Amino acid sequence: MKYDFLIKEALEAQKSSYAPYSHFNVGATLLADDGKVYKGCNVENSSYGATICAERVAFGNAISDGKRSFSAIAIVGGKDLSHCEMAIPCGMCLQVMSEHCSDDFEIVLCKGEEIKVYKLCELLPNRFKL
Ligand code: THU
Repeated sequence: MKYDFLIKEALEAQKSSYAPYSHFNVGATLLADDGKVYKGCNVENSSYGATICAERVAFGNAISDGKRSFSAIAIVGGKDLSHCEMAIPCGMCLQVMSEHCSDDFEIVLCKGEEIKVYKLCELLPNRFKL
């Protein structure tokens, strides 16, 4: 499928996940409109609220490299690296996507061989915007 390459890189990003508290390892790959891929993994903290999700790390990497336009993000996550669940992005990550992406931005999730692609407007149908 057209996002196989993005999922493969997300599985690579997941290997860097720092998750000693939840043991839920997440990797994300954000596809910029120019074709460049930005990776992120979750970075946990002993002060749990200071944890950063993989998706927001990927956005931070891309934004700090000057990118402003994105078409898709692949997310893989699971308890330990050996298996993968449908890792639906949390509300805070959806809000960050909402800041930088249009309604048709695609969110690619997988569980083993099963792949699901959602539009941002399906997961966050009513956005907060200033
Ligand atoms: N996590 C993500 O990286 N992305 C999400 O969208 C949901 C949750 C991380 C945060 C924490 O390190 C672990 O998964 C368990 O919540």
